Amino acid sequence: MAVRRVSSTLVQALFWFVFCHPCFGTVSDIQCLKRLKASVDPNNKLDWTFHNNTEGSICGFNGVECWHPNENKVLALHLGSLGLKGQFPDGLENCSSMTTLDLSSNSLSGPIPADISKRVPFVTSLDLSYNSFSGEIPEALANCSYLNAVNLQHNKLNGMIPGQLAALGRLTQFNVADNQLSGQIPLSLSKFPPSNFANQDLCGSPLSNCTATSSSHTGVIVGSAVGGAVITLIVVAVILFIFLRKIPAKKKDKDIEENKWAKTIKGAKGVKVSMFEKSVSKMKLNDLMKATGDFTKENIIGTGRSGTMYKATLPDGSFLAIKRLQDTQHSESQFTSEMSTLGSVRQRNLVPLLGYCIAKNERLLVYKYMPKGSLYDHLHQQNCEKKTFEWSLRLKIAIGTAKGLAWLHHSCNPRILHRNISSKCILLDDDYEPKISDFGLARLMNPIDTHLSTFVNGEFGDLGYVAPEYTRTLVATPKGDVYSFGVVLLELVTGEEPTHVSNAPENFKGSLVDWITYLSNNSILQDAVDKSLIGKDNDAELLQCMKVACSCVLSSPKKGLQCLKFISF
Ligand SMILES: *[C@@H]1O[C@H](CO)[C@@H](O)[C@H](O)[C@H]1NC(C)=O
Ligand SMILES: *[C@@H]1O[C@H](CO)[C@@H](O)[C@H](O)[C@H]1NC(C)=O
Ligand SMILES: *[C@@H]1O[C@H](CO)[C@@H](O)[C@H](O)[C@H]1NC(C)=O
Ligand SMILES: *[C@@H]1O[C@H](CO)[C@@H](O)[C@H](O)[C@H]1NC(C)=O
Repeated sequence: MAVRRVSSTLVQALFWFVFCHPCFGTVSDIQCLKRLKASVDPNNKLDWTFHNNTEGSICGFNGVECWHPNENKVLALHLGSLGLKGQFPDGLENCSSMTTLDLSSNSLSGPIPADISKRVPFVTSLDLSYNSFSGEIPEALANCSYLNAVNLQHNKLNGMIPGQLAALGRLTQFNVADNQLSGQIPLSLSKFPPSNFANQDLCGSPLSNCTATSSSHTGVIVGSAVGGAVITLIVVAVILFIFLRKIPAKKKDKDIEENKWAKTIKGAKGVKVSMFEKSVSKMKLNDLMKATGDFTKENIIGTGRSGTMYKATLPDGSFLAIKRLQDTQHSESQFTSEMSTLGSVRQRNLVPLLGYCIAKNERLLVYKYMPKGSLYDHLHQQNCEKKTFEWSLRLKIAIGTAKGLAWLHHSCNPRILHRNISSKCILLDDDYEPKISDFGLARLMNPIDTHLSTFVNGEFGDLGYVAPEYTRTLVATPKGDVYSFGVVLLELVTGEEPTHVSNAPENFKGSLVDWITYLSNNSILQDAVDKSLIGKDNDAELLQCMKVACSCVLSSPKKGLQCLKFISF
């Protein structure tokens, strides 16, 4: 009985770490709201009181939406029509994970701050419409690079619309109607309807030409012909881009076999390997080449979307794991700064990045070596003894992984979305403590990418682990990682592979999640449990774990949340 209680606490801990773990952002977000209120709410229209600073306390405030109801981390501020007065509010930089800011229909005035991109760096939707903001539209708005929607309608803005806004490649809505703007509309914005630009002195597409002469029909025809050609070109370019990306990937596979690429970097042997920890002795590329036998096939310990992993044996007999990154799209300086961020991420359940090395076009990452390999190998490869993989060990792996993932989502600022969680990226150390690998790499693979960003190139993660909504929205979210984690939990409980269920009837063609859904609909979920785990006094725990898993993989993210509330421990 006591054992049960302890283990059910463990499952609870697992649940807690994934969904409710508090984070460092909290003090900051409370300060954000305090400063905001102090600066724009002289008449006390916002009934926000800060007596109770428990986690989630600000999430019930009028107009405040949190990432999660139990976590003081602001996702969105909906502060339209609340009688706010004064200048652009203070404190927003402390709401460091905010993606939506709506201040519409208030009485705010003064300039839009020139450092707006520092105050709301991750905003995707900015609505300042129906206020009295004056001055020019700051160029720095172009540095809020995640903007999808900008509404500045009905203010007192003047000057030109900055051409820099062309950098906002994700804009789907843009409205500056009803201001005092003048000059030419940047070409990048001409796709929006003319009514969105209704200002006395604005000109250029989609409004009339700036040279005050009237436009001719030929102009329109030429214009649309050019437009058509441009669209065709873009389509062709996109198709080419997709094809060209595939070809090098294939080429590289061949390369790996022949390890030719390693020969091309021999000239760079003297390049230093940058190490994050002083304790690790200084190394050069030459040392890595020696330790991996010039990256021979025999030393490959894994291949995945982000690249190939090699085992390196150092002269003192210790090991490292070296990842050769596949196709990174980033410049050297971006890459270096990304590396120093990832190098500082340290948590018990994450594989530490020890260093990196840039040699010509190759990028090599140096990781701690994980002697017990991947969870996938233990669960699904014949040559590992499945027998030793008893439930207590699996539960330990589930909980550790949950902690690591929760840390990436909640304690890193900005948060890191993994986007490729699978049993292959969960590695095990000597004590079978799980360590998540490859975190932060999804961004490196992607030219225009951030922690909030969309997927490009149709890369959604490994088959069988991808949340269904990803294929619709193409937006990476923490929920997507939670979904993949749910699939890993199902693997742990069922021992089945995510794409192929050996235990199912032969005519069943679906994935592991489809199988579980089917069993659950027929109230025979217990049939899914790994036979080697049954009858060993773990049943309650197994079912609990299955429940958590199911709530992670429910088809709609909203439903998932509801279901989580509904499963109470
Ligand atoms: C709020 O933001 C300011 C400016 O970035 C910073 O100095 C301050 O430390 C932040 N406060 C908290 C509690 O994080
Ligand atoms: C603080 O708020 C939480 C929920 O928001 C509530 O459960 C708790 O009782 C409150 N504490 C106090 C002292 O009011
Ligand atoms: C905007 O970004 C550019 C390029 O990174 C930088 O040079 C400029 O200083 C930034 N502007 C502001 C106001 O942050
Ligand atoms: C308007 O601009 C287009 C493109 O610059 C040009 O081809 C056209 O002749 C212009 N129309 C008039 C009437 O100036």
